[in-house]
Amino acid sequence: MSNTPDHELVVAAKAAMQNAYAPYSKYHVGAALRAENGKVYAGCNVENAAYPEGTCAEAGAIAAMVADGANQIRDIVIIAVGDNKAAPCGGCRQKINEFAEPDLIISVVNTAGDTTRFSLGEILPHSFKLDV
Ligand code: THU
Repeated sequence: MSNTPDHELVVAAKAAMQNAYAPYSKYHVGAALRAENGKVYAGCNVENAAYPEGTCAEAGAIAAMVADGANQIRDIVIIAVGDNKAAPCGGCRQKINEFAEPDLIISVVNTAGDTTRFSLGEILPHSFKLDV
């Protein structure tokens, strides 16, 4: 597997990350995905003074995809500020799982461009999913 994430997704995730609203954690995250229609949807984390109301970058990208009428994630890049590579949180793994197959490759990138890639099935084994 190539270790190079889709450039267009990296650019879109980075742009979304610049707009992250993260005054509490100061941890800025961007996510961009490509859907089955070929379009790119991006999101950033949006925090809230009532902490649990904050939303993750992945959730924003997924909401944009669904609002536009798409529902299959074919590729996804997540980027966070700093050296850390932001693997999706447990809740986001489940949210991604709703709209993707276990062989989806998730690319996690830091601001230096270092990339780690893993499949959804690897990081969310034995997932819960219903046939719809
Ligand atoms: N965050 C994301 O946006 N995506 C993740 O998968 C992990 C965490 C955000 C939530 C919160 O705004 C900040 O990172 C710190 O947890």
